Amino acid sequence: MELLCGNAEPEPRNLSLGGHVGFDSLPDQLVSKSVTQGFSFNILCVGETGIGKSTLMNTLFNTTFETEEASHHEECVRLRPQTYDLQESNVHLKLTIVDAVGFGDQINKDDSYRPIVDYIDTQFENYLQEELKIRRSLFDYHDTRIHVCLYFITPTGHSLKSLDLVTMKKLDSKVNIIPIIAKADTISKSELHKFKIKIMGELVSNGVQIYQFPTDDEAVAEINAVMNAHLPFAVVGSTEEVKVGNKLVRARQYPWGVVQVENENHCDFVKLREMLIRVNMEDLREQTHSRHYELYRRCKLEEMGFQDSDGDSQPFSLQETYEAKRKEFLSELQRKEEEMRQMFVNKVKETELELKEKERELHEKFEHLKRIHQEEKRKVEEKRRELEEETNAFNCRKAAMEALQSQALHATSQQPLRKDKDKKKF
Ligand code: GTP
Ligand code: MG
Repeated sequence: MELLCGNAEPEPRNLSLGGHVGFDSLPDQLVSKSVTQGFSFNILCVGETGIGKSTLMNTLFNTTFETEEASHHEECVRLRPQTYDLQESNVHLKLTIVDAVGFGDQINKDDSYRPIVDYIDTQFENYLQEELKIRRSLFDYHDTRIHVCLYFITPTGHSLKSLDLVTMKKLDSKVNIIPIIAKADTISKSELHKFKIKIMGELVSNGVQIYQFPTDDEAVAEINAVMNAHLPFAVVGSTEEVKVGNKLVRARQYPWGVVQVENENHCDFVKLREMLIRVNMEDLREQTHSRHYELYRRCKLEEMGFQDSDGDSQPFSLQETYEAKRKEFLSELQRKEEEMRQMFVNKVKETELELKEKERELHEKFEHLKRIHQEEKRKVEEKRRELEEETNAFNCRKAAMEALQSQALHATSQQPLRKDKDKKKF
């Protein structure tokens, strides 16, 4: 009998099978299940307005997606996702193309990266919320997390703009970035070579992490290593078909010649399509989940107070963390309640004091008015008395006058009689 010490797991033993059992069909079962389920792939296109984003998408998937030209007068960067159902053989692909509309059109470009970062985080948050649900339905959940960001570089032949460096730096921990030089037919071969070296140098010196095609899978290690050295891909897009020899090919026709999109001597379009769609699509999806989403999830859960282990490396119980968080939340709630109650009491006291002060002022005003009123009343009374006295004096004078008048009248009526008497005497 084998004795196990501690928690050490027993070593698995190699056994040979007596015949065919059938679990070698597991990879086929997986493929069959995945094909039935279908795949989703989400591409974010970041680049100046009119740089050729829509044309390149149409060229890459050999179709015509619905697009609207941006106006160059957008007030801020806005993200426009559009989802399409594509089918090739029996494989269904739910493809979402997200356009960063208005990127680079604002005078102040300080915050141009913010809506893009917020959009990527929102998709991570939606996925996390689904994962945290009690009844999860991740099987048929439409995963909108961005799997790759195609960053369109303007073919100046000089260097990257600060906007490019700042944006890529802000995005590199959230999404797989594949930088591409757009409209590569507008730059000469020797200039393009120098431009590529300059761009890569600037990305390294500014610490921008771009997506590296994986070299750990033997089947694709060699091709991926070669392609990593070709970054950033210089691409040309076109939906126009031009006759070259006796074949119709996608190309751009100029007075001096034809630039063939799928000719590797003309541009890196084929390399991009090969790497993005045919070789590394699954790795891009995988990296999004295991690296970028994992980082977002970890930070978010840590922010919420969850940990895998405490200081002594003891595994943390979800129940304990929940209880601790709940207690913390309740005490915070209590503190806030007490604070608000105190604020309310203070406010009531203040209002009471204000009301008392107002009452006192009103009382004073009333007393003042009362005094004025009494004074007025006294004055009116005095006036009335004076007028009465004047009226009395006037009446007295009037009576005296009347008496005098009647006396005078009487006297004048006696005078002719006396004159007659006097005449008789003579
Ligand atoms: P918005 O969505 O409005 O931001 O534009 P966009 O980035 O989607 O550019 P779009 O694909 O609409 O192309 C704008 C113009 O550039 C069109 O006239 C295209 O024909 C042209 N164009 C696209 N790709 C290339 C290219 O590789 N080389 C050259 N020379 N012109 C291109
Ligand atoms: Mg477009």
